[in-house]
Amino acid sequence: MITYAPPVRRYLIDQDSVEGWLSYTTSHVIASLMKIQTNLGVIGSAMEIGVHHGRLFILLALCVNEGEDALGVDLFDMQDQNVDQSGKGDFGALQRNLERHAGGVNVRFLKSNSLNLGGEFCRAEMGKRFVSIDGGHTRAITANDLWIAQSVLCDGGIVALDDIYRVEWSGVTAGLAQYFARGGALVPIAIAPNKLFLTTSVQWADTYRKELQKSFIVGSPQEFFEFDRVDIIPMNSEHEPGKFGKI
Ligand SMILES: C[S@@+](CC[C@H](N)C(=O)[O-])C[C@H]1O[C@@H](n2cnc3c(N)ncnc32)[C@H](O)[C@@H]1O
Repeated sequence: MITYAPPVRRYLIDQDSVEGWLSYTTSHVIASLMKIQTNLGVIGSAMEIGVHHGRLFILLALCVNEGEDALGVDLFDMQDQNVDQSGKGDFGALQRNLERHAGGVNVRFLKSNSLNLGGEFCRAEMGKRFVSIDGGHTRAITANDLWIAQSVLCDGGIVALDDIYRVEWSGVTAGLAQYFARGGALVPIAIAPNKLFLTTSVQWADTYRKELQKSFIVGSPQEFFEFDRVDIIPMNSEHEPGKFGKI
């Protein structure tokens, strides 16, 4: 059974006070995966592309350990480059939410279009253990962000890709297909509401699945692109505030 540090536990209950898109079940899966990484000795910082007001970013910032940090990349006030209008970064709202929920945490921000994050960025930011991809939702931007994530991940690092299989955001699924078709090496672990989790090898995917199965109800394993298995973690009301059951 996974236990969270008190600030993480508080935020899991109070995350609705931050505007954004993250279900309770999925925030539990993310907090659990980061705790599992710590238990397994996977060390590294976190990063999110597409921060909006910080709903998920704050969770990442609360889950990193001493010596690690969380980097947030967003267009922020360059919204004229937000081609698919997926959310709207707001640095002021983000700062207020951070102060309220995660004062004193180790965070950095970069105002940039993720399409402009090149090799220099990847070399400087290598060794991440958790990367959330939730920026532009087009095919081109999704594939670009997956390549960036693959470049900066440490061994055993995890990627959370938002809005997989959403009809309104079909560019995400198209971008993932393009990434795999062009040789992307990440391996799927599981799908929780709205997010696909991937990691750096088949062995790590098996390890994370076994660990997740100790705390989460897992639906029947499914096939996924050319992979034999991805676990499905359905929405579970036990993860809603006041109902922490199994965790
Ligand atoms: C769906 S929102 C992110 C939601 C957020 N992860 C949360 O937890 O609520 C998408 C964000 O991506 C940003 N964005 C869109 N296109 C981008 C791009 N090409 N590069 C960087 N950020 C981008 C937007 O400004 C917006 O803040």
